[in-house]
Amino acid sequence: MRIDIMTLFPDTVNAVLHESIIGRAAKKGIVEINCVQIRDFTENKQNQVDDYPYGGGWGCVMMAQPLKSCLDHIKAQTQGRKSRVIYMSPQGKPFNQATAKRLKNDYDHLVLVCGHYEGIDERFIELCVDEEISLGDFVLTGGEIAAMAVADSVCRLVPGVLADEQCYTGESHWDGLLEYPQYTRPECWEGKTVPEVLIGGDHAKVARWRRKKQIERTMEKRPDMFEKLSFEDKEDAKLLKEIQKQAKRKKLTEPLSYRQATMKDIPRVMEIVADAKRSLKKHRVDQWQGDYPTAAAFEQDVANNELYVLCHGEDIVGFLMVTARPEPCYDDITDGKWSSDAPYCVMHRTAVAAEYRGSGMAEYLVRCAEDISRKNGVRYLRVDTHRKNKPMQQLLRESGFRYRGNILVSSEPGHDPARQAYEKILK
Ligand SMILES: C[S@@+](CC[C@H](N)C(=O)[O-])C[C@H]1O[C@@H](n2cnc3c(N)ncnc32)[C@H](O)[C@@H]1O
Repeated sequence: MRIDIMTLFPDTVNAVLHESIIGRAAKKGIVEINCVQIRDFTENKQNQVDDYPYGGGWGCVMMAQPLKSCLDHIKAQTQGRKSRVIYMSPQGKPFNQATAKRLKNDYDHLVLVCGHYEGIDERFIELCVDEEISLGDFVLTGGEIAAMAVADSVCRLVPGVLADEQCYTGESHWDGLLEYPQYTRPECWEGKTVPEVLIGGDHAKVARWRRKKQIERTMEKRPDMFEKLSFEDKEDAKLLKEIQKQAKRKKLTEPLSYRQATMKDIPRVMEIVADAKRSLKKHRVDQWQGDYPTAAAFEQDVANNELYVLCHGEDIVGFLMVTARPEPCYDDITDGKWSSDAPYCVMHRTAVAAEYRGSGMAEYLVRCAEDISRKNGVRYLRVDTHRKNKPMQQLLRESGFRYRGNILVSSEPGHDPARQAYEKILK
């Protein structure tokens, strides 16, 4: 691919396009980018490229002659090539990835004409220009920024410019979707951790998560693009259903708060427990699948001032039990160890009502546990969860908890006592 950029400011364009990835590709001869000074083709003594507009008005218009002579010079060097002359103009068709693909596929030579001042003489456009491309519905002082954008986006599609085709086929706009979120080291930054699926090493799961995020993001950020998608692919249609189901979940519109539970709250707590049991069963997690946790256990928690309810406005939408009493079964931790012997609080017995899952309430619940712990004068929180309770594990990791090893809880006969142990040192 050869690109000639007709400009009054070749140094500006060269400085950008001969750097970094495109610059390296040019050095290797994979692409060729030339900036041609229009002023070199004037036929007047002053090297004047513009003049006042006929009919009056502000500013100057670039004259057709230097433009045509400049173009002829380029054409003389590129005979036999499949060329396209493009005027960068706010009146052109808005540029997009599909246009970049078309230009790369259909031509091996592009001439990008950069106007300046009030623009260029209309007769040059009529006589010499194949198409007009705009960077968007706004006006720039010159066509250079637009030409650089077109040259960059076309060149990166040329084989050999990027390391692999996948570098651009997975990116935003390639197939009508935006790209999924990206993360790099460290795994935890400012208390925010990388989604667990990305560090689990399961490539199929990563691919599914990414595709789902692509659909979800496009839906949220670019409804205009989303409208054009057809979802004929079965897997995509399934992902869309999942996203739509999630979207139906309650939005948090009222203030969130938490308070100590009273005996009157126990029936609502038991409703949420029943919800949670159903969900755990559905996900084949052998946790809370017997009688536990019972209303009697919660009554004891209330009596100990250790049970809290989460409120969305007036509604109780979750609960948590936080205690500063040490948990004896945490003493025998295997496959790892706690990072500190300091006094700690434990978050036990916790759940969020089904209609609030995925709404951000669970994240709030963890923050409440941290707050309660601090109010107890303790800056160290421990929690355990079933090894198959992936949503809880993800919540904990995303909330800055670290997996420390495995423990055994005193479970009902016939039920799995193995739990994963997590901890967080609070700031
Ligand atoms: C100030 S503009 C001229 C605008 C022109 N008088 C009009 O209203 O259509 C000067 C030059 O900048 C370039 N330019 C400005 N906005 C652009 C855009 N959105 N996309 C591409 N090129 C643009 C064009 O090459 C144009 O000739």
